[in-house]
Amino acid sequence: MRRSLLTFAAALLALSSAGPVSAQFKPIAIDKSPPTDTRENYMAWMKANRGESDKWLAQRWDRYVQVVRNKDLWSAEVKRAFLLTPREVFAAANPGVAQRGYEHAFLDMGYGVTMSGPHLQSRMTDTLGIKRGEKVLEIGTGSGTQAAILAQLTDKVYTIEIIAPLATRTRGIYDRAIASGYEEFKGINTRQADGYYGWAEAGPFDKIIVTCGIDHVPPELLKQLKTGGMMVIPVGPPGAQRVLKIVKQEAGGTITVTREDIYGGKIVPFVPFTKLVDGAIQGSHNR
Ligand SMILES: C[S@@+](CC[C@H](N)C(=O)[O-])C[C@H]1O[C@@H](n2cnc3c(N)ncnc32)[C@H](O)[C@@H]1O
Repeated sequence: MRRSLLTFAAALLALSSAGPVSAQFKPIAIDKSPPTDTRENYMAWMKANRGESDKWLAQRWDRYVQVVRNKDLWSAEVKRAFLLTPREVFAAANPGVAQRGYEHAFLDMGYGVTMSGPHLQSRMTDTLGIKRGEKVLEIGTGSGTQAAILAQLTDKVYTIEIIAPLATRTRGIYDRAIASGYEEFKGINTRQADGYYGWAEAGPFDKIIVTCGIDHVPPELLKQLKTGGMMVIPVGPPGAQRVLKIVKQEAGGTITVTREDIYGGKIVPFVPFTKLVDGAIQGSHNR
């Protein structure tokens, strides 16, 4: 009896050190939003309803104010998404930038890739006008931050990353975040593949966001976009893309595509849209 009690205690101990930790943060229901009138009210609400620390809430709020002031964020839905997304969780994957998740900067995430800055991510996301329940495809999971923002807007997020160990690392971040209480990330589906060919089995998509730069719009992505759907994509020569909003429409049985530069001509450099050849990354998809 004594021995079995001891064995039971040892098993419990092993489970608690190796197994998932109990939720540290509270899930926030889809119909609940933090106040946006003052920093104090936002922080108090988030502490009560999510349980995050003053340090990150203050940084998140301060960047939010700048992003709104700069007109990179305008809708109530994406403002809420910004204010609920813990960028620090994703920046932490690289100890060198762990404290910098709310800076107006691209951050080095290892593997030669960057986490896009909060201003750019906000503008690209708000341009898409994502509605709850819409299916959204992201090409270039990277740090995972962009898909985390999307997951605050819809429960059907699909994201593809070409670099295998990075895809695995970011999947692990989502899984740990879900276990710690960020339940909205359950809506994120991840895949390691060459995103040039999209995710046909999961499509068609209402919205597509591409976060690596290419000199043309991949035909398969256009095909997997619903009629009436929208894509934002950096298009142009290496390191000198323009971020385009592409809308696919149908008129009289003919598919047409409209293009609009969401920065009015400003160059925005992105990491290249690379290519998988026989399972290895080789060059880019530029023509
Ligand atoms: C600017 S970074 C990532 C930004 C990311 N959305 C974030 O929130 O951090 C672009 C990502 O696109 C990935 N990428 C490049 N070519 C790709 C391809 N053909 N398919 C999928 N992902 C690709 C890169 O490996 C990189 O992680």
